[in-house]
Amino acid sequence: MELREYTEKELQVIADEVGERQGWDFSRMSTEREPVPWDYIDVVSRFLRPTDMVLDVGTGGGERLLSLADRYRRAVGVDPDPEMLRVARGNAGRHSNVRFLLAPAERLEPLDDGAFDVVLTRHAPAFVPELDRVTKAGGLFICQGVGSRNMANVRRAFNTSSEALYVDAYQTMLSDLAARGWRLVAEGHYDVCYWVKDVPSIVFWFQAIAGANEVPGEFSIAKHYGVINALIQRFGSDLGLETNEHRTLVIARKPDA
Ligand SMILES: C[S@@+](CC[C@H](N)C(=O)[O-])C[C@H]1O[C@@H](n2cnc3c(N)ncnc32)[C@H](O)[C@@H]1O
Repeated sequence: MELREYTEKELQVIADEVGERQGWDFSRMSTEREPVPWDYIDVVSRFLRPTDMVLDVGTGGGERLLSLADRYRRAVGVDPDPEMLRVARGNAGRHSNVRFLLAPAERLEPLDDGAFDVVLTRHAPAFVPELDRVTKAGGLFICQGVGSRNMANVRRAFNTSSEALYVDAYQTMLSDLAARGWRLVAEGHYDVCYWVKDVPSIVFWFQAIAGANEVPGEFSIAKHYGVINALIQRFGSDLGLETNEHRTLVIARKPDA
């Protein structure tokens, strides 16, 4: 990455070129991270059985759920954002065993009690009373979350304070699962260095996650080109802009009937 001051105009041209995120697809970013102890798709694949009914809460564009479609019998992805559902349905392609429905985690009303063998959430809200209701006795919940220390230097630079929100959500989820008798199968955390390798990837990223806690909802180049430059100056190197990726993993099993 070229380490220099970028003008507002230069950054605006880059922002116009990189365009908007489609669904929850970050594949256009050039990044690197330190080795991590688990890979979400790998973990979920190891638990899925070909007979399983799967629910993915906060599915976004369904990218991860669809990538697992050969591993389960049928799946439903829910998201409260109609634009996400539009992208997810477009992404579904040949996977006729996956449906997408409009619903927030807190009100899974279209879904029957005990309908699912496995409930997934990745980087989306988990609401235990509802996920408990729709999971079969003996069923599994697999949740990868964003950790409270995620992107600490970026949060400091933007003056966003999402830490308490993540900690509270995580603790509430664990205590709500325990209160319903769910057994913790595995719990994990990692917090590794993460490099965003070039300026177009940084701009795409900040635009794409604006409003998702770390970057303010009102992010714009006009307002924040100074912050981008300050981050590049302080944390940029040949490797790119260095920040950190903090993730949590919870795997829990519902008690047998
Ligand atoms: C960070 S994205 C993750 C998408 C997807 N799970 C993935 O890992 O690619 C968060 C998703 O949660 C959805 N979401 C926001 N509030 C929600 C809620 N109350 N219930 C369920 N999903 C929600 C958003 O619309 C968005 O699609």
